[in-house]
Amino acid sequence: MKQLIYSSEPFGFDSAMLAGILVRSREKNREADITGALICRHDMYLQLIEGPEAAIDAVFARIVKDDRHLAVKVLLSRTADQRMFPEWEMLDDQMPSLTWSAADVAGGIVETATPEMLLGVFERVAAKARIAAA
Ligand SMILES: Cc1cc2nc3c(=O)[nH]c(=O)nc-3n(C[C@H](O)[C@H](O)[C@H](O)COP(=O)(O)O)c2cc1C
Repeated sequence: MKQLIYSSEPFGFDSAMLAGILVRSREKNREADITGALICRHDMYLQLIEGPEAAIDAVFARIVKDDRHLAVKVLLSRTADQRMFPEWEMLDDQMPSLTWSAADVAGGIVETATPEMLLGVFERVAAKARIAAA
């Protein structure tokens, strides 16, 4: 199984657009056996997608071309034996500014984060969702 994390800059961020992305993503991901999480803030998307390698490559090729965001950068791509979001076709989370301030993001902190830091952020998102669902 492949896991991929990328960051991008929202282009025209609003709740209707975000809802549109999430509804369509969940339909497509269910069909393709993809799970993951999308951290969505007005200044940043940070997404983890996981699933069969060919499915991840195909969805990511579509995501890169999507004009609802810009500056898509792959931050991590690895093989994993376990999903981090087995229950979620695409969890969405407005990452608290506690983790990264708008100034940190504007300064490029996400692009320079280590793989361990990025995975740690998603692990916290997954833990929070598990607690909320319990
Ligand atoms: C930030 C962002 C995240 C997205 N995440 C996914 C996703 O997880 N799965 C997916 O199928 N499409 C995702 N998309 C949407 C794709 O870019 C594309 O619009 C969608 O897959 C439908 O493609 P189609 O209309 O060509 O079938 C995302 C788009 C954006 C802007």
